[in-house]
Amino acid sequence: MSDAMTRPDRVRIVEVGPRDGLQNESAEFTTATRIELVRRLLDCGLSHVEAGSFVSPKWVPKMADTAEVMAAFDDDARERLSVLVPNLRGMEGAIAAGATEIAIFGAASEAFSQKNINCSIDESLERFRPVCEAAKSRGMRIRGYVSCVLGCPYQGEVEPAAVADITAKLFAMGCYEVSLGDTIGVGTPLKARAMIEAVAASSPLERLAVHFHDTYGQALVNIYAALDTGVRVVDSSVAGLGGCPYAPGAAGNVATEDVVYLLDGMGIEHGVDFDALIDTARFILDALGKSPVSRVSAARLGRCAA
Ligand code: HMG
Ligand code: MG
Repeated sequence: MSDAMTRPDRVRIVEVGPRDGLQNESAEFTTATRIELVRRLLDCGLSHVEAGSFVSPKWVPKMADTAEVMAAFDDDARERLSVLVPNLRGMEGAIAAGATEIAIFGAASEAFSQKNINCSIDESLERFRPVCEAAKSRGMRIRGYVSCVLGCPYQGEVEPAAVADITAKLFAMGCYEVSLGDTIGVGTPLKARAMIEAVAASSPLERLAVHFHDTYGQALVNIYAALDTGVRVVDSSVAGLGGCPYAPGAAGNVATEDVVYLLDGMGIEHGVDFDALIDTARFILDALGKSPVSRVSAARLGRCAA
């Protein structure tokens, strides 16, 4: 089948800015700013916004107010929000906050798993099991993440077979979708494509998402390659905010406005209001006192990229 035939007509964008974007942000910001960011992103038409995480505040202090962020939204809005949950303690927080969707997050690299969630890959799956049972018994949706799919800051190369293995296990545990994370943004298109094809040999391609950080400026071209394999869900962060606290040197996620611009150019539907998105990028950049790293925002806002 040719790439033009496998490429989707419509892509769902999963906006991760309020979580991945802000979890490692060095500038100070208030809970009110994070709430306003989520509200504006929902108003842009994004069907899926990751609002925060119920993790240890000692590990990730910037997400400590996630319960307050969730409390600012009504049931309808919370249908479009999700939160990261690493263990049963986090699950209690997610349930109390009225979350309808959680995300569990594992890794294809043993070293990263230890640094990020303080346990091995197998132990992480054991921790996720009761979390998933609790979610399923309440009808909550479960999304899965696999980190370090194209390289690890601690162990270097990561084999596609390792990514395929944990992805299949996350689906078996009840995830409706698994997002493949290039946590440190080292991937390039041919490698990304080979990794996705390896994963799709044992997991459903139509339920895979891609999550590219843009450390080496390859995120958009990797997304282009992923779309050509038939992937139809893309994670991104408004204004290109982001980075993982346990992935030193990792840059932000690909900017949502850059993804929207690309999809528009390819004639792929996404349902996001581009002008409202640029306004939202301006809002959060002003709140953080930053210049855009997104080339699209820089062009639209008339500011130089940092
Ligand atoms: P631990 O120290 O092994 O856990 O951390 P523990 O069970 O021994 O508990 C230690 C302390 O943390 C205790 O408190 C617990 O109560 C508390 P103390 O007695 O010391 O006062 N605790 C919690 N508090 C609040 N919420 C909780 C919770 N659990 C325990 N859920 C743990 C294990 C998983 C908690 C820790 O390692 C952690 O929080 N890690 C989170 C790391 C994180 O959030 N990383 C960023 C997200 S992943 C990412 O960005 C990648 C992604 O974007 C995809 C990609 O780019 O690849 C998703
Ligand atoms: Mg990430």
